[in-house]
Amino acid sequence: MAAPPGSEVQAMFAEIAPRYDLLNRVLSFGIDRRWRETARRRLDLAPGQDLLDLCCGTGDLALQFARHGIRVLGADFTAPMLPLARAKAERRNIAARWVRADAQSLPFAAASFDAVTIAFGIRNVEDPQRALAECQRVLRPGGQLAVLEFFAVEGRLWGPLFRFYFRHLLPRLAWLVRAGRGGAYRYLPESVDGFARPDGFAQWMSAAGFEEVSDQPLSGGVARLLIGRTADAAATTARCTADAAATTARCTADAAAAEAAEDAKEGGP
Ligand SMILES: C[S@@+](CC[C@H](N)C(=O)[O-])C[C@H]1O[C@@H](n2cnc3c(N)ncnc32)[C@H](O)[C@@H]1O
Repeated sequence: MAAPPGSEVQAMFAEIAPRYDLLNRVLSFGIDRRWRETARRRLDLAPGQDLLDLCCGTGDLALQFARHGIRVLGADFTAPMLPLARAKAERRNIAARWVRADAQSLPFAAASFDAVTIAFGIRNVEDPQRALAECQRVLRPGGQLAVLEFFAVEGRLWGPLFRFYFRHLLPRLAWLVRAGRGGAYRYLPESVDGFARPDGFAQWMSAAGFEEVSDQPLSGGVARLLIGRTADAAATTARCTADAAATTARCTADAAAAEAAEDAKEGGP
């Protein structure tokens, strides 16, 4: 199952926006905070570096970075999420900027950010490969993309256990916390089942030009953290130099072969 059209996704997240944080804490038993902190540590950005947090929702991941002096821009296409993120940042006295934007068509110049993060968002994007291409475009050479996401949990014990939680307990818990009509949390397990498998998603990242793609299971694989890097300037220069040297060598060999053939013709019978 591909993600529903953007307008449906927006309507669904607009409906749960006011209770989104409470739901996250209750439904993940607070573990989502630890996953976000793992993402922050793995990216290991320095204060002053530029981070784009895509599908930022109410801004939890963005603020985790901003707290450590990273210059953060949070972007989401569901309008009601952004005032919640802004208010949270103000309450905590953390500097961050927020903008409404679609991950598939980013309003930023090429090479604008040192890192892009997407937490539990890419699965909801109608054309995730287009979003990955946009991430590649807006990242600087050597920049990092980190994707935190739920994928179908495999394994004979964990698989059925999590499917039971996702399909039966989670929608009921969501209903108890009064998350709209609970539809978003019926959609969650369906969207996880219908999304790419982790190795397939890693291949999408590679196809979009990300290198050194790593895949780290979190909490027994309930969530996963995939990180990739754009080619750095030195590697690109080295590759171009190697390509140029190979082309020169090939041309020299071709010219020598042509000359030898010409000589053979002239001196031939
Ligand atoms: C499950 S929430 C995750 C929010 C936040 N990253 C977090 O970890 O709590 C998914 C978010 O992705 C956003 N989203 C989905 N598709 C999007 C798109 N094409 N462009 C921008 N945001 C999108 C939704 O509006 C929603 O706020």
